[in-house]
Amino acid sequence: MCGIVGYIGNKDTQSVLIEGLKKLEYRGYDSAGIAVYTHKGLEVVKAQGRIVNLETKLEHGPLIGTSGIGHTRWATHGKPSDANSHPHTDGSQKFSVVHNGIVENYLDLKEELISQGHTFTSETDTEIIAHLISREYEGDIVIAVQKAITHMRGAFALGVLAENEPEKLVAVRQASPLIIGIGEGENFIGSDIPAILQYTRNVYILNDGEMAVLTQDSVELMTIEGNFISREMIRVDWDAVTAEKGGFEHFMLKEIHEQPKAYRDTMRGRIDAKGERVILPELKLTHEQILNIRNIQIVACGTAYHAGLVGRNVIEQLVRIPVETDVASEYRYRSPIVTPETLVIVVSQSGETADTLAALREAKANGAHVIAITNVVGSSIARDADDVIATLAGPEIAVASTKAYTSQLIAFFLFGLYLAEIRGTQTPEAVSEIIQAMQELPEQLEGMLEQAEAIKAYAEQISKHEHLFFIGRGVDFAVAQEGSLKLKEISYIHSEAYPAGELKHGTLALIEEGIPVIALVTQEAVFEKTVSNIKEVNARGADIMAITYEEHVTTLLKSVDQVFAIPKTLPLLTPALSVVPLQLLAYYASLARGNDVDKPRNLAKSVTVE
Ligand code: F6R
Repeated sequence: MCGIVGYIGNKDTQSVLIEGLKKLEYRGYDSAGIAVYTHKGLEVVKAQGRIVNLETKLEHGPLIGTSGIGHTRWATHGKPSDANSHPHTDGSQKFSVVHNGIVENYLDLKEELISQGHTFTSETDTEIIAHLISREYEGDIVIAVQKAITHMRGAFALGVLAENEPEKLVAVRQASPLIIGIGEGENFIGSDIPAILQYTRNVYILNDGEMAVLTQDSVELMTIEGNFISREMIRVDWDAVTAEKGGFEHFMLKEIHEQPKAYRDTMRGRIDAKGERVILPELKLTHEQILNIRNIQIVACGTAYHAGLVGRNVIEQLVRIPVETDVASEYRYRSPIVTPETLVIVVSQSGETADTLAALREAKANGAHVIAITNVVGSSIARDADDVIATLAGPEIAVASTKAYTSQLIAFFLFGLYLAEIRGTQTPEAVSEIIQAMQELPEQLEGMLEQAEAIKAYAEQISKHEHLFFIGRGVDFAVAQEGSLKLKEISYIHSEAYPAGELKHGTLALIEEGIPVIALVTQEAVFEKTVSNIKEVNARGADIMAITYEEHVTTLLKSVDQVFAIPKTLPLLTPALSVVPLQLLAYYASLARGNDVDKPRNLAKSVTVE
């Protein structure tokens, strides 16, 4: 997730771009850059780090012109650096491109372009777009862009400038958001409405497979095949703050709704075209190393640790290698048994959590190969790890992690399947069945989010209680722990998660008339047993809500007070769906209690102290 902005008109282009980028900084902030058509031609200035670094550079040589594009980056391909920052140009500096998304086949395209004599200066997928446009250019930038994108597979929103046609700004949308702002004698592009809101409230929203050609006085909309289209202009009446939250009341709710996209982005390019195999070209871990793995340790904190608990289930079931999941702050001090045949997986949204970083260093010092599953490619954890599997959830602003957690689950599913294929522990049919079910998750989740309001009334009920229990077995217990943490951290309601079969060994003493119990009942293999545990709390007067599949609703309603049904998927994949009602429950309970949802008391987004 990166931010794009573009301008054509008579204002100070550099300021319009910088102001727009500041509004998009929430989409990524590891580097930024602008390209402006000046009296010298297309000039580019870019800088690693936050936008203020770019501003400092520009103080020494401002770019003055009447058209320009800008970008704030959230690294996916290539670490954050000046060279990898956008805009990218072709070798001759005649074309400048900003890009949000991923070009899946960029390695093949890069090889092809190199064999045709093109040279590259960055590690990004974006640079190949500038070169493709340059290769296809025969005097008309619109046609060159159309031809270039016929070669590209994946998700992209683009802003393109050509030195020979400075009166035009070309924008393309294919599975990454892009809007066009309409002004008087000036026009804009932006990844999101906040980028342009201080200049205009009139916008066109581009759909996938559409493009726009902007001049100072006109905007032409067309399909990427070149068929002109007309579209009604939308008048935006959001205030600036609401706009940054995409119209949602809080970042947390926005991020919950971004999960289908985060799933798609994290899977994109990592499943072969036939949907039969997982490919992780980013890994340095060799097949030989994989065949030699004797044990796996997953280490993380908080919500990321909970993703690791699901990860343990996934890897053990798919690959039959022993896996332990540890809280990072405990890992180092229990003298873990690490050998060169140990694979350590650290999980961290921010990539900066001090305890996780320390655990990573400890594991490396003991000879383990360390893979980081992280959302921030340029983070300390990503830099120190031997390998990185990036979750492509985009920046997470709310302190309570949602889309980063579920993207970590997707990363574990992918990695588990990858190991299973190499170690031959699953048949090709089983692998492709799981892949197919994974590919259905985003749409299933979209359907669930349409029913978000159904959780609201229950959350309001819960918000009046001070204590609550979550129960489940297997991966349901792992999800129960995440649901409990989410509720505690933003609603400040005390809750505990228990393996459903463990209550009777002590905690059942706390179950009394009216106490809320949330039961996760999705695992067929232990369905009957979990129902028995539900009956145990039902008999003591608990007020029970069950999360289960549609087909079990009638059975469960005999023992529980309410049911929330989730779409059917494979048992191992269920956490990617069953956690979502729990995220919504925490959100609405926090709201009902009047708490600051996005910034809960005593907590920080990134914990860089041990
Ligand atoms: C809870 C939450 C925290 C983080 C934990 C680790 O919603 O966000 O529990 O998961 O502090 O942070 P990262 O993943 O950045 O290492």
